[in-house]
Amino acid sequence: MLIKRSPNGIDLPFSSEITPREIFESRRTFIKQLAVGSIAGAGLLDQAWAQSGNAKLAARLNPAWSAMEKQTAYKDATTYNNFYEFGTDKSDPAHYAGTLKPRPWTVSIEGEVKKPFTLDIDSLLKLAPLEERVYRLRCVEGWSMVIPWIGYSFSEIIKKAEPTGNAKYVEFVSLADKKQMPGVGSRVLDWPYVEGLRMDEANHPLALLTLGMYGEVLPNQNGAPVRIIVPWKYGFKSAKSIVKIRFVKDMPRTAWNLAAPSEYGFYSNVNPDVDHPRWSQATERRIGEDGFFTRKRKTLMFNGYSDVASLYTGMDLRKNF
Ligand code: MTE
Repeated sequence: MLIKRSPNGIDLPFSSEITPREIFESRRTFIKQLAVGSIAGAGLLDQAWAQSGNAKLAARLNPAWSAMEKQTAYKDATTYNNFYEFGTDKSDPAHYAGTLKPRPWTVSIEGEVKKPFTLDIDSLLKLAPLEERVYRLRCVEGWSMVIPWIGYSFSEIIKKAEPTGNAKYVEFVSLADKKQMPGVGSRVLDWPYVEGLRMDEANHPLALLTLGMYGEVLPNQNGAPVRIIVPWKYGFKSAKSIVKIRFVKDMPRTAWNLAAPSEYGFYSNVNPDVDHPRWSQATERRIGEDGFFTRKRKTLMFNGYSDVASLYTGMDLRKNF
């Protein structure tokens, strides 16, 4: 985002039991068209995990929180990434994230909470029923994707942590381990990658503690084994490979805000009316729709998630960008 100087940068059956992927993807589209509102059989919430490869992860589609739009191809979603711990080119994470070890892994929940605790991934997987939510992700660089994520509302973690009255914000801290992450040796950002939300934002049911995508556990390049997805904000708010979640009094100093405060504000809500200092945010390129004559899409306020508007009543979103 700093390096490149131009912006281009229901109830479903187990989506995952099917190979090859092309068939899985076309079938899930077909099934969705047919089966919105139908009842699933028992056992849909079971999940599986293997020590290597992308193990299957079953979840029920939550249609209320899903965009019924054409989904981005798995290949695009897993080869065109931002994960600077593995390099700054879009293809770097897919090439180099094989060194990341997503197991064993723990996430510590700390700070202004009555009950600090540490969870391993198995416990995180069991903390609440897994849902599939098809969210749009809009990157600040001007591209977007539509991805079937798997997880549950982050509010489940908040409930368990019992924040004290002092907790006004939540900070998400990514792993920063030079041995596993070659990019952490570079000075492109101050590591670790840190992101944050205001408590009411973090409590909004759309904020998704994310453990999988496309019927599988998260691929390394997409932030294995656990990340946050905040679909109404630019993609950089969605920190990957989280090891620490801190409830804090003061607004967190986030990685991109520290790197370029005039370009990346704390809120970073998708807002077509507020340009990035170096480019317009009015339109976006949907990955997979890259034909020569393809028109860009209009970017929607809050990325189309208008439910969140009430979180910002009375705030000047030009100042609080
Ligand atoms: N999290 C970490 N730890 N490091 C990163 O470089 N990049 C962010 C975000 N989370 C990033 C990160 C940016 S800029 C975007 S657009 C999204 O991850 C991209 O997520 P995706 O590669 O799964 O599409």
